[in-house]
Amino acid sequence: MHTAFEADWTNANLRPGPLAKCRATDGLLGVFIMTKSKLIWALPVLTSVAVVVAFAAQAGGDKVAFPENFATGTLYTTVDRADNKQYRELFVSPASAVEAAKKGDPLPSGTVLTLVQYGAKLGADGNPEKDANGRFIKGNLLAYTVMEKRTGWGTEYPDNVRNGEWEYQAFKADKTPNTAANLTGCFNCHKPLDAKKDFVFSYEKLAGK
Ligand code: HEC
Repeated sequence: MHTAFEADWTNANLRPGPLAKCRATDGLLGVFIMTKSKLIWALPVLTSVAVVVAFAAQAGGDKVAFPENFATGTLYTTVDRADNKQYRELFVSPASAVEAAKKGDPLPSGTVLTLVQYGAKLGADGNPEKDANGRFIKGNLLAYTVMEKRTGWGTEYPDNVRNGEWEYQAFKADKTPNTAANLTGCFNCHKPLDAKKDFVFSYEKLAGK
């Protein structure tokens, strides 16, 4: 449709006299409509691009439901994080994931890794207190981060982002998703791990090593 208007506009400019004036006005209208129609055409495209981007950023994490039963899985290690004064408990389910790690295999579909973040109990000097074994002491529950792996997940990510079939999600202390979390950051930081570790930092701990 706007090709016709475009042609009109060009012809009008070439023609002298009142007709040209009239045509020029038509042409202006044509340009206006053309611009508008381009805009009308562009809007759904832009909207769908935005939807696709939002989908990529959101959909992955949304696949990971809060693992209500994480505590019935295996508490396979705890981590004292001096940098952010946190005490962390790492749970895995199902038990077959531990067996896979012991064999050095990738973790099976259905594996859920739950990292529970607690503030370390602080002493009067503001530093984490230590127990008899020199380990941090569990304080207030802060948040959860979860990794879940399922057959067929991850296909929508480009190779430089994709972590196999893993998806990531962060949850607040009340178990609702932390919508402010940077899930791309999860992929980026876990990505460089040796493929033998299946993107899991604590793979050796999982294997009981
Ligand atoms: C800057 C690097 C970094 C980023 C970003 C990061 N992680 Fe991790 N993640 C680690 C490290 C290191 C560990 C090992 C345990 C620890 O030190 O607390 C870990 C451990 C985990 C574990 C336990 C399994 C494992 O790999 O050992 C889960 C689950 C996890 N992260 C989920 C997430 C989620 C979800 C996000 C994003 C919201 C995220 N991580 C972002 C570095 C990172």
